[in-house]
Amino acid sequence: MMSHFVIDHPLVLHKLTILRDKMTGPKEFRELVKEITMLMTYEATRHIALKRREVETPLEKCMGYEINDKNVVVVPILRAGLGMMDGFLQLLPNASVGYVGLYRNEETKTPVEYYMKFPKMFDNTEIFILDPMLATGNSAAKAVELVKNNGGKHITMLSVLSAPEGIEVLEKAHPDLKIYTSSIDRELNENAYILPGLGDAGDRLYRTK
Ligand code: URA
Repeated sequence: MMSHFVIDHPLVLHKLTILRDKMTGPKEFRELVKEITMLMTYEATRHIALKRREVETPLEKCMGYEINDKNVVVVPILRAGLGMMDGFLQLLPNASVGYVGLYRNEETKTPVEYYMKFPKMFDNTEIFILDPMLATGNSAAKAVELVKNNGGKHITMLSVLSAPEGIEVLEKAHPDLKIYTSSIDRELNENAYILPGLGDAGDRLYRTK
């Protein structure tokens, strides 16, 4: 079953190109990550449940709809995932936020957990995990595992950029996961960076290099 979707809307591709540009500074980089996340969230929330509710216009009553964003949990993977959180919350302001802190051991390329805090997750809670870069897929797979261990069932991964290797690892580890990305790039290099990619998302968001 195919569980990954590429959001190749012209607005996303345009913004993604500026994001990749090495001349783009941290202010614009943060703004673009936020905007791309909003556009991705628009697509990635298509499946969430709608309830009918009556609304009274100035002229008459009619039926409308509402979502229950109080039953949505968003989980940014620290630290680069934080860059996507505001865009998501702008569209679903009542979502609860959980955090997973993972860093990559640069020798083994495996994720090491250093922080975890989740709100209550019910069987029908919609959970969205955020990480701008889906590279080896190991961190994302670990984050999904931690969410599942804490009761999460309906999980969607949002990554701005991904590598084919990462998609494969993640789909194999979690066939029930939905993955949204705006580009599947060519490959990973020997340091597990995405090519052509955009460099280190955390460093570019927070100007740490
Ligand atoms: N993480 C990043 O920030 N960039 C990559 O290319 C891969 C992982």
